[in-house]
Parts: sequence; structure tokens; C-alpha cells
Amino acid sequence: MSAVALALQLVGPGGRVLAAHDCYGGTYRLLRALEARGQIELCFTNLTAPTAEAEIARCAPAMVWVETPSNPLLRITDVRAVCAAARRVGAIAVVDNTFLSPALQRPITLGADVVVHSTTKYLNGHSDVVGGAVIAKDPAHLEKLGWWANCLGLTGAPFDSYLTLRGVRTLFPRVRAHEENAQIVARVLDEHPAVIAVHYPGLKTHPGHALATAQQDGYGAMISFEVAGGEGAVRELTAALQCFTLAESLGGVESLVAHPATMTHASMDAEARRIAGIGDGLLRLSVGIEDILPALFLGFPGAAPFERETVLFVARVGDHLADVVGAAGARSHADTLDGKIRMGVKELREDALDFHAWCMSLELDPARVAAVHELEHLFLELGVRGGGFEI
Ligand SMILES: Cc1ncc(COP(=O)(O)O)c(C=O)c1O
Repeated sequence: MSAVALALQLVGPGGRVLAAHDCYGGTYRLLRALEARGQIELCFTNLTAPTAEAEIARCAPAMVWVETPSNPLLRITDVRAVCAAARRVGAIAVVDNTFLSPALQRPITLGADVVVHSTTKYLNGHSDVVGGAVIAKDPAHLEKLGWWANCLGLTGAPFDSYLTLRGVRTLFPRVRAHEENAQIVARVLDEHPAVIAVHYPGLKTHPGHALATAQQDGYGAMISFEVAGGEGAVRELTAALQCFTLAESLGGVESLVAHPATMTHASMDAEARRIAGIGDGLLRLSVGIEDILPALFLGFPGAAPFERETVLFVARVGDHLADVVGAAGARSHADTLDGKIRMGVKELREDALDFHAWCMSLELDPARVAAVHELEHLFLELGVRGGGFEI
């Protein structure tokens, strides 16, 4: 937030800021607080809508604040078009690039004047630093930012800066590993009967998929999805999820899950959340780089066909479905493994993306818990990466 606060110093007294209506909750809170003190004027708009350029012209702001992909709905803004519209009205175009990092998106090459990062996230990447960065194209902006950073003390501590620089050295391979896992998780969620909607720009069905493909170098590892049943279902699910810790942050090597309505975006009032499309059934995942991750267990009690005794197992490249199924002695849905486990191959996918994943649902006899562990050992012997079981 220090980076956000610093970038806002470029707006003069009473200057108008036009921000994305679904920007990060902390940014929204700061903007509203500055407005309440009379320091700035505010307009919020959906910068992903076809009306965005007209709204910028109508509002005539001093600064346009873009966040793409947005937090938490992963909406994609056309950075080139919005920055051009900002330039036409003489506004400074700022892009918060926290969700993608420079590994996947470089807004200055798309026309932005200023780029903001929470370095707490992907740039540091290890969840042990809180920090930010502001990058400006225009030397006059840089000078002003440097002056305000010094004046307000918005500068990084030496040890935090050291850790962040060390994190940056592994940014590219980390981001690749994050995204590889995220692609799998997004697909699993997309097919889950208890999931109403998945927001991930890497899915071809995402409304911003084509734009993301054009302006980004990848789709990142932030996913949000909606479950039926509102907050009650969300509580049950977050308690049942394995691999994902309930926490607000994102971009670290470990997988996290957050409930935006009560966590990251709790500082927005209910009406602002409604307008931004942030419902009570929305969950946000920051997909980590764990090797175990492809074993994603979704404990949606009562959500057919994945009921409590059903396991969803996902494996990655190099894991041969036929070997696993063959060794388990299961040839069809009704076959049994030592009479204990009925195994049904849900599907085999080898799709256009550069990994192959397969999902299998195993219908377990709940009375035979030990059988699950036998199967786990079998998978281990076969060298299937990822895995784990829940009954
Ligand atoms: C898009 C975005 N910008 C800025 C911030 C603020 O970052 P920090 O937690 O480092 O203050 C966050 C935090 O989640 C964020 O998601």
C-alpha cells in the first residue's frame, strides 16, 4: 500500500482519480479516505467495459488507476486503449501490475506512465516481506516520486530490499511453476458440479481470454470461483480444502485461499461489492508451486457426483493413465481393486495447452478406509506425482 500511496502523490490537491470499480479493497479504502478529506475527487468505473474510454473522457481525471487482471474477479482491461484514452485527457495512467509481475506483463510498453507493484507478492515471492515498488516512465514523475518517498519515509528497509532482490532472481521459473499448477486447478474447478463460475483468464471461456493472450505473456496463477450456497458453503469448503491455507495474501510459493467479501474486500461496503460483482460465494485462490498441488481436494459435502466418499485425483505430464488404471486392475467403472475400491476414470484429457492432465474420480467404499492408503501406496510405487486422498 505504500507504493499505492506514493503513486497517488502525483495527483495535485483536489485532483480527480478515475479508478477501476473492482480495484483491490485496500486501494479502494485509501481512495475513499482521501476523498472524504477533500484531497481528491473520485470516479469509479468498469474499465473492462466498452464504455471505459467514454467514461474517461467524461470524468476528465488527473489520474486513471488500472488494475489488470483485477482483484479478485480477474477481469482484463485493455491497457493500450485505456492508457491512450487517459493520454487524450492529459491524465497519468497508472497500472497496478501486482497480479502478473513483470514476468507476464509490462504495462509501460503498453502505454502506462506509472506501474505499481506490491512486492509482497510475486516479486519477493516467499511471503516474508511487505513492500512495494513504483516505476515511472517520465523522469519528472520519477523525481517527484523520489521526493515524496523520502519526505514520507515510504522506502524499503535494507534487509527487506535484499530479500526482495533475491526473490526477483527466481521470478521467471516461479511464475512458470505457479501458472502450470493454476491451469490444472482452473480446469478441475471448471468441471466441478458445485462450482457455478470460474474466473481465470487462461480458460478459453473467460471473457478476457483473447485480450489476455494478446497483452500478457501468460495467465498467472490467481483464480477466483463461485460456489453455490453463499457464505455457509464457503466456510465448509475452506475448512475442507487441503493444500490451501486461508489467508489474505497472494503470490507466495505456497497456495492460499481467501474469501474476498469478508477478507480482502471487506473494506468495500456491501453495495460497492455488489456493483463490483463480489458475492458471498466467491473464493480467491493464489495457486502456489507445490508439487503436491495437483492433488486438489474439494470437500463439497453433498455435491453430486463428488460426494464425501469420492476422491478427485489429478496428475500431470508423465503420469500414464493406462499404467495406473492397469496396475490397479480396473478396466471399467464397475471394476474393483481387490474388491474394495470401485474405480471410474472420469476422463482423459490431452488438450492444446502445453501440459497434459487427467482427472479420475474414485468411488470409495467409506467403510474401507485402509483401501485408500493401499491405493495411495500404489500410486507412489508407480511414480505418479501429486496425490493424496480424503474420505
Ligand atoms: C492488486 C494489489 N495491489 C496492492 C496491494 C497492497 O499490497 P501490500 O499488501 O503489499 O500492501 C494488494 C494486496 O493484496 C493487491 O492485491
